Amino acid sequence: MVDQEQKLSETKIEQLKSVRTETEDVILKRRSVRVFQKKQVPEFLIKRMLEAGRFAPSAGNSMPWKFVVLRDQEIIDGITQTIIETCKIYKGLIDYRYNGSILRRIIANIIIKSKPNDLHPVPFGAISLIADEKLGLFHNAPTVILIFADERGIGFPTLDCGIAGQNMVLAAHSMGLGTCWIGFPKVAFENTSIWRNRLGIDYPYKFVSSLAVGFPMGKPDGMVARPTHAVDWYEDGMKKTLY
Ligand SMILES: Cc1cc2nc3c(=O)[nH]c(=O)nc-3n(C[C@H](O)[C@H](O)[C@H](O)COP(=O)(O)O)c2cc1C
Repeated sequence: MVDQEQKLSETKIEQLKSVRTETEDVILKRRSVRVFQKKQVPEFLIKRMLEAGRFAPSAGNSMPWKFVVLRDQEIIDGITQTIIETCKIYKGLIDYRYNGSILRRIIANIIIKSKPNDLHPVPFGAISLIADEKLGLFHNAPTVILIFADERGIGFPTLDCGIAGQNMVLAAHSMGLGTCWIGFPKVAFENTSIWRNRLGIDYPYKFVSSLAVGFPMGKPDGMVARPTHAVDWYEDGMKKTLY
């Protein structure tokens, strides 16, 4: 019996040399989807996504997350509007490209340096586009899942939320849905209390990110080339570098 089991697993290992698992396929082929069909996602599929999120690992099994599902267009549009208005203010304060005053440039520099992640050149560019209403926020997705971290969680609650979010994303793509992570609602939940109050989000919950979910238009999933990052590998007293 043990021999048989051993043989089976050796055969499986041999097969894995040439065949990817379905899970790997979903991981490798998932693409962010930014064009959705108008039709709403059936409720049970969203519940399946939430279930995948709920089963995510978390430090000390603290499960430090809260998911809020939005399928109410008025709320999605309202949050979008708050983000646009906030980005307009940000743009006026920090867009050093359009002002001649040295003082404003100094202020812009200080603000940008104080938020190096939020105001990295990529989101910085996006803030201007959002302010000018040239960049969609939730890409007209019929469902949005907001992810909040319980600040009392163990270790890094936002990391646990990211893991739960990616579980939901992969479950969605395995079911033929499309998703896109959307980070910008942060400005609607951190710079003003309008939406926290409206949705009843209070301490200990802090916005982490969100997912736009819907049926994709066309077939956006598929593999694309990714740059490699060097991996240091230590074994048997030797170090090698993998690319
Ligand atoms: C935390 C996070 C926040 C993101 N925020 C946005 C966003 O606000 N808008 C957007 O269109 N894409 C957003 N993305 C999607 C990334 O741009 C995308 O994952 C990346 O370009 C790689 O492309 P891929 O997802 O198709 O592999 C975000 C992704 C992550 C992980």
